Amino acid sequence: SQDDRISRIASTIRVIPDFPKPGVMFQDITTMLLDPKAFKDTIDLFVERYKGKDISVVAGVEARGFIFGPPIALAIGAKFVPMRKPGKLPGEVISEEYSLEYGTDKMEMHVGAVEAGERAIVIDDLIATGGTLCAAIKLLERVGVQVVECACLIELPELKGRERLCDNPLFVLIKSA
Ligand code: PRP
Repeated sequence: SQDDRISRIASTIRVIPDFPKPGVMFQDITTMLLDPKAFKDTIDLFVERYKGKDISVVAGVEARGFIFGPPIALAIGAKFVPMRKPGKLPGEVISEEYSLEYGTDKMEMHVGAVEAGERAIVIDDLIATGGTLCAAIKLLERVGVQVVECACLIELPELKGRERLCDNPLFVLIKSA
C-alpha cells in the first residue's frame, strides 16, 4: 500500500544531529538513495500524484531537488527547470531574494526556461521555514507560470513553513519532528 511504501522510505532517511551546526537535526536523504526500492517508491509516489495533470514544468530546487526532480519530469513528460543559487546559471536569469535565519539568500532561474500559462510543480527534499519554496513560487509566478503544488519528501511541521507558502498547496510524504 501507499502507507507501507511511505513508512519504508521514512526508515531509510538518516538523521544526523548537530549538522551543519549545533541544534540542527539534519535529515539526510542520501541513505535513501542507496536503497533502490525506497528511491523508486519515492519517485513513483510523486509520479502517481502528478501524471495526467497537465503539468509541463518540474522546477527543482538546488541541491536535492536536482536528484528528485528529473526522474519525475521524465516520467510525467514535463521539462525540468533548475532553480539555482546565485551566480551558477550561465544565461540571463531572474532572481528572487529570500530571508534566512541570519541574512538573505537568492534563487535564480533562466529567462526563457518557462512560458506564461504553463503549469508547474516545485520539488525539493525538505521544507523547513518555507523560505526556499516561497522564493521558487515567486520566481515562477513572476513569469506567469501557475504553481499547481509544491512537493517535498519531508516537512518539519514545527517550523510552520506551510504557513509561509500562503495558499499554495504543499504535498509531503513524511512529517518529521
Ligand atoms: C535545505 C533543504 C531546502 C531548504 C529548506 O537546503 O534542502 O532546500 O534547506 O529550508 P527552508 O524551508 O527553511 O527554506 P540547504 O540549506 O541544506 O542547502 P543545499 O540544498 O544547497 O544543501
